Amino acid sequence: MGLLLLSSVSRKPNESMRLIVTTFFGVVLGFLIGVSFPTLSTTRRNVTSALLPGIDFAYEDKKTGLSTQTALNVLSMRNSSSAHNASDTSKIWVRSNPRGAERLPPEIIRAESDLYFRRLSGNPKEDLTYKPKYLVTFTVGFDQSKNIDAAVEKFSENFTIVLFHYDGRTTEWDEFEWSKKAIHISARRQTKWWYAKRFLHPDIVAQYDYIFIWDEDLGVEHFNAEEYIKLVRKHGLEISQPGLDPNGVLTWQMTKRRFDHEVHKETEERPNWCTDPHLPPCAAFVEIMAPVFSRDAWRCVWHMMQNDLVHGWGLDFALRKCVEPSHEKIGVVDAQWIVHQSVPSLGNQGESDNGKAPWQGVRERCRNEWRMFQDRFTSAENAYYQSLGINPSNSSEPH
Ligand SMILES: *[C@@H]1O[C@H](CO)[C@@H](O)[C@H](O)[C@H]1NC(C)=O
Ligand SMILES: *[C@@H]1O[C@H](CO)[C@@H](O)[C@H](O)[C@H]1NC(C)=O
Ligand SMILES: *[C@@H]1O[C@H](CO)[C@@H](O)[C@H](O)[C@H]1NC(C)=O
Ligand SMILES: *[C@@H]1O[C@H](CO)[C@@H](O)[C@H](O)[C@H]1NC(C)=O
Repeated sequence: MGLLLLSSVSRKPNESMRLIVTTFFGVVLGFLIGVSFPTLSTTRRNVTSALLPGIDFAYEDKKTGLSTQTALNVLSMRNSSSAHNASDTSKIWVRSNPRGAERLPPEIIRAESDLYFRRLSGNPKEDLTYKPKYLVTFTVGFDQSKNIDAAVEKFSENFTIVLFHYDGRTTEWDEFEWSKKAIHISARRQTKWWYAKRFLHPDIVAQYDYIFIWDEDLGVEHFNAEEYIKLVRKHGLEISQPGLDPNGVLTWQMTKRRFDHEVHKETEERPNWCTDPHLPPCAAFVEIMAPVFSRDAWRCVWHMMQNDLVHGWGLDFALRKCVEPSHEKIGVVDAQWIVHQSVPSLGNQGESDNGKAPWQGVRERCRNEWRMFQDRFTSAENAYYQSLGINPSNSSEPH
């Protein structure tokens, strides 16, 4: 029970830990059956040996050197799936493989991929002459192409550039040289979080140390992405954004650029806006217009994103659930800052409804999504604590 609790509470599921736990149970189970069954009847003993023929079972080519680990995995999987015929040892079944891939030998499995371009001929090993370490995505309409062109210039060759096109105009971007090396994904009238959920799966973007998921209306004159990453590393920020110029559009004090800091991680808001100085919007908080995620943080945030809630409202308040301690690992970089110009471009692509302007419908949906997301999160947390027999209101986690 203690072990089970450990693995379910752990924020970032640790594969090797799970493997050890599984293996441990397998060995203990085998041992217990081994010790208890000899005292039983011969028929039972035969059943036992059929179920657990020891390490000495037929399993592919023994000469290839079946590792003890693999053997133990196979042993612990005997009982794992009703669809799998446990007595048929000629077939592979590896429970520790990714779900659905249990029939494959572990060493052939490539659970992660990347966004790197490959050649159509030549030795595959020599395809990749350089591997960008960072990813930046912009959700764009061609009307903002000048702004995006200026922004891309601030991202070095160490970045993979992905454009999500919401207006269907993709070929026009070829007037920019960099566009030919960028990845273009086109789906009309979708939002940045819709694309992010569908095209930035953590196993696909696993090669990147940092992932920038940015809007198209950001002024980047005082921003350099490589310098930004240096500061993010230096201050241990797992989730961050550049400070916002106080003269531009500002909603929260937290994201306002400070002139006397490299980064800041907390702020003072208007009176009574913060229930706790370590909680949003006073700390552990960045907005969703220009977030930057570490690989690990993105793995969590991707899982938290809802398929039907596409505007991302409320997501910024929940980002803190993905890092610990969140008031130290979420922050705003002041030394590399941007201007939020606020061009409601995608907002105008909504549908007019009952005589209301398109942007009104969008705004309404944003608010509804925020409420739905909060409700879902609260009930999911309650369900979790109740399943452990803990009264959620006793939880030390502030709400
Ligand atoms: C083994 O299989 C039996 C019968 O299907 C099931 O009741 C039991 O919970 C399984 N044990 C484990 C450890 O999976
Ligand atoms: C499992 O495999 C064995 C041996 O191949 C076979 O005799 C048995 O009928 C199979 N059982 C099921 C449930 O498929
Ligand atoms: C790209 O990354 C390499 C390796 O970390 C580094 O040496 C180089 O300076 C980076 N490029 C720029 C433009 O900063
Ligand atoms: C929650 O806290 C109250 C008062 O501190 C206590 O009486 C109650 O037993 C606790 N419930 C659980 C499930 O821990």
